[in-house]
Amino acid sequence: MPPTFLLVAPTHYEVSYTINPWMKPGTWSENPARHLAEAQRSFAGLEQALRDAGGTVETVEGAPGQPDMVFPANAGIVLDRTALVAAFRHPQRQGEEAPFTAIFGRLHDRGLLDRVVRLPQGVFQEGAGDCIWDRTRRLAWTGYGPRSGHDAPAVIADTFGIDTVPLELATERFYHLDTCFCALPGGEVLFYPPAFTADGVRAIRDRVAPELLLEASDEDASRFCVNAVALDRTVVMAQAAPALKDRLGDRGYAVREVELSPFILSGGGAYCMTLRLDLSTGGA
Ligand code: ARG
Repeated sequence: MPPTFLLVAPTHYEVSYTINPWMKPGTWSENPARHLAEAQRSFAGLEQALRDAGGTVETVEGAPGQPDMVFPANAGIVLDRTALVAAFRHPQRQGEEAPFTAIFGRLHDRGLLDRVVRLPQGVFQEGAGDCIWDRTRRLAWTGYGPRSGHDAPAVIADTFGIDTVPLELATERFYHLDTCFCALPGGEVLFYPPAFTADGVRAIRDRVAPELLLEASDEDASRFCVNAVALDRTVVMAQAAPALKDRLGDRGYAVREVELSPFILSGGGAYCMTLRLDLSTGGA
């Protein structure tokens, strides 16, 4: 399968509740029509950037009343053509589980997935947002704390037969691992240390050689630039500070920026607006 991304069109997108500190329903409600139009444009820009980088894009519709479906990274984990469907911590997002299960079912019927499996009852796990496959080290970095439970990494390890490195997230501001951690194709890891506990930072430093470890600044993290999609030598992200573009440029990556402010208003960026469907534990 070519690099394939599931995206959810922002037809029913809005910012209408607050489950993370970035969400601004008041700002959205000042002019919903304008924000929605901007979100549509922003979304089209992301689709284009992914295609230009060599990705195949599968865009599906979300469900009315479930505005955060535009963040399908939280819908599940897909590895080796198996989808492990998410279980959301907050009631506001639990209504996404049924429509996403149906979406995975249709991908299965089309031959894009072999299996759709569920988490054990009572385990919260918010998908690839808290499970980042590292093809260089052949393991998954798994976030827990604000959203996914401490018991989720073991379930992931079991389901996919892989090693996981559990990383506890220290703050509600960086509530999913993908807001503060990005594994690049060349083995570099871009991360934002203040988002992790001391044990978490140690676990990262233990496994990533210093020359491959890039620390994001406060500005990079709050612009949602760590929440990036890397495809070969292109890194797709929200509008970035020049210093980050230079640092990635020195490593041979081209940064493709997309104006994502309508989605940052809900606490999400490029990575969490996508779900990779083609990752394999054995593949390149
Ligand atoms: N409003 C969404 C939430 O709080 C944003 C999710 C962004 N997803 C992510 N993986 N960072 O759940």
